[in-house]
Amino acid sequence: MCINKTMILCYNIYNMVINMDNLYIKELNKFDCNITNKIHDFGRDNNVPIIMDDGLSLLLSIVSIVRPKRILEIGTAIGFSSIMMALNSNATIDTIEKKNDMYTKAIDNINKVGLTDRIRVHLGDGENVSLDELEKEYDIIFIDAAKAQYRKYFERYESLLSKNGVIISDNILFHGYVEKYKFNIESDASKDLKALARKINNYNEWLKSNPNYNTIFLNIGDGIAISTKRSLNE
Ligand SMILES: C[S@@+](CC[C@H](N)C(=O)[O-])C[C@H]1O[C@@H](n2cnc3c(N)ncnc32)[C@H](O)[C@@H]1O
Repeated sequence: MCINKTMILCYNIYNMVINMDNLYIKELNKFDCNITNKIHDFGRDNNVPIIMDDGLSLLLSIVSIVRPKRILEIGTAIGFSSIMMALNSNATIDTIEKKNDMYTKAIDNINKVGLTDRIRVHLGDGENVSLDELEKEYDIIFIDAAKAQYRKYFERYESLLSKNGVIISDNILFHGYVEKYKFNIESDASKDLKALARKINNYNEWLKSNPNYNTIFLNIGDGIAISTKRSLNE
């Protein structure tokens, strides 16, 4: 699809209005938790890509509704989202991190907040961590690792999802680049970034047409998709 100048102008105005709106909501959803403020600020100050505040609010709302016994997270970073999910539930959490330095920092943070008995960090690649290391069933699977590999994670771990479980995928808009890619809108994206945006768009479209799940795509945080199993034949 080719977009003309008027459409680009409309798109920019639309974004300005949406962003003005969002400022108020963002303020309301601003993160504040005295147990984890330091971890959050460390992430922000050191460019660790932890979940955005309003994305976190949504994630924690889902956690409150689902009341999970077990959560699986792909992409630990410094343990921030795991710790927040643990503090807002009684769940035990398995979380997978590929990078050594992140793994070490996550372990340190989890120790500091006293959650070692409920959060288990696995050092490894989410694409091939042995399922034997994990539990048989999870009520929430939170996908937040390499954006180009989301379908692989989804297909690898969906067999571990409980009947009424939820798979949550973060960063499905990737800072607006996915939408710009999809609608062929000019952007400052490098070739690599455009390729990544294309892959995320492919994932979103694959999710949308996946007959086994209902998925809602939300413009919250960096874009979040929530997928639940369809139960038409029951
Ligand atoms: C967006 S950060 C996770 C943020 C974390 N969930 C939070 O909100 O606090 C993504 C993390 O996934 C890790 N990662 C990337 N590819 C991975 C893979 N294939 N397996 C496991 N972890 C991976 C990165 O090293 C990075 O620490």
